[in-house]
Amino acid sequence: MEIVILPDPGAVARFGAAVLADTVRRDPDAVLGLATGSSPLGIYEQLAALVQAGELDVGRASGFALDEYVGIPEDHPQSYASVIRTEVVEPLRMDPSRVHVPDGRAADIPAACAAYEAAIREAGGVDVQILGIGANGHIGFNEPTSSFASRTRIKTLAPRTRADNARFFDDPDQVPTHCLTQGLGTIMDARHLLLVAQGEAKADAIAATVEGPVSAMAPGSILQHHPTVTVVVDEAAASKLRLADYYKHVFANKPEWQRIAVPQP
Ligand code: F6R
Repeated sequence: MEIVILPDPGAVARFGAAVLADTVRRDPDAVLGLATGSSPLGIYEQLAALVQAGELDVGRASGFALDEYVGIPEDHPQSYASVIRTEVVEPLRMDPSRVHVPDGRAADIPAACAAYEAAIREAGGVDVQILGIGANGHIGFNEPTSSFASRTRIKTLAPRTRADNARFFDDPDQVPTHCLTQGLGTIMDARHLLLVAQGEAKADAIAATVEGPVSAMAPGSILQHHPTVTVVVDEAAASKLRLADYYKHVFANKPEWQRIAVPQP
């Protein structure tokens, strides 16, 4: 696991965008795993700026969202289908037919989840998966005690997650109770995992993910079993890491050939 501690959210966004841009430049047909929520928004903004400047073309890449709410219409502004369209597909000028979101409105939910898994497989698997993390340690919407072997399925959102996401809705009661989410097993199949977190509210979850025991109570801790994980955090989200100074030392002394070019502000 590589831990990259940067001074502020802007630097986290630039670094995350550089990782994704590098992936797409090396393979224009790359398959991107897309998170929603606030954590990756800065990355998407940085990528959109590169696209608008003519420095990056994501038009051939595919995308798979991590999750979707159950119980709100597709055209609801907070459905992840809407959020992915407005925050990712349109600004990055991606091909909408190549960007997929689990179907939270399907009449047959298990069939829709199986079809989603099949679509990821048929696309050749995810090259780089962007992840945020919940304050309770969830990745995707795999809440504490989710199976490490889980695949895309319906989940009941934890009360803490509903409370945290109430900021996106007019009324906390409007936050759906259920979602479809890629499972932890699905996420672990991606070739590269890029976890981003900003702010002190994520410090406990990041410490549990990086340094805690691997436990279903801290779903992010499964990342310790993945061979290629980059955790990019600001100082506040890193504030409970016991080995923070070591991670900074490692990063500062990386061999030149392992570095990615990160644009400066
Ligand atoms: C979103 C997702 C969630 C969020 C997490 C953090 O697709 O899968 O795991 O990444 O809830 O949300 P924010 O970034 O809003 O703090």
